[in-house]
Amino acid sequence: MKIIVCENYEEISQEAAKLVADLMTAKPDCVLGLATGSTPVGMYKKLVEMNKKGEISFEKVTSYNLDEYYPIEPTHDQSYRYFMNQNLFDHVNIDKSKTFVPNGLTKDPAKEGAAYDAAIDAAGGIDLQILGIGQNGHIGFNEPDDALIAGTHITSLTENTIEANSRFFASKADVPTQAFTMGMGSIMKAKKIVLLANGTNKHAAVAQMLDDKITTSCPATFLKLHKDVILICDKAALNG
Ligand code: PGA
Repeated sequence: MKIIVCENYEEISQEAAKLVADLMTAKPDCVLGLATGSTPVGMYKKLVEMNKKGEISFEKVTSYNLDEYYPIEPTHDQSYRYFMNQNLFDHVNIDKSKTFVPNGLTKDPAKEGAAYDAAIDAAGGIDLQILGIGQNGHIGFNEPDDALIAGTHITSLTENTIEANSRFFASKADVPTQAFTMGMGSIMKAKKIVLLANGTNKHAAVAQMLDDKITTSCPATFLKLHKDVILICDKAALNG
């Protein structure tokens, strides 16, 4: 795993945006794997600025998001579809019909999950997958467990994740207890992975990810099996 250590959040956002922009320049019809959460917000801001200046174009880009709460309406202000519209899609020249987020209202999760993975494969696979990391080492909503599921699936959120995400909801009781997530197998198929980590509250998860063990109790440790992963982080996330 290559590590880029940054001075601050601004620099993390800049480095990540540059990697995405370079790919979009080299391959205008690239397939991006996108993430939600606080960490990538700065990167999205930079990409919006670059798009407005005409430095990059999303015209031919296809995107697949990592996860979505379940059940949730796409118009709900805490849905990840809403987040993506607000933070990126509404501000750039992307064709929204080529932006995909798992369907938080599906009646048939198994079919929906398999179809999501098949659609990614049919699009040629994800060229660059952006990831955040949970304080508990989760990737997407692949939570620590005795076993991990390879493909896109519905999962229950851990207490730790519900607590961490309750900051966005009126109360903890309003946080959905389930979510759709790309599985670790789906994520590991991406050609390149860029993982962003900022702040001391991510240090324990980052340290475990970088030690020499692979364990389902820290899903991020599986990223060590991928041959092209870049961790972009600040010193606090890396060193505590
Ligand atoms: P955060 O979430 O960027 O809001 O810290 C990351 C994650 O939980 O994967």
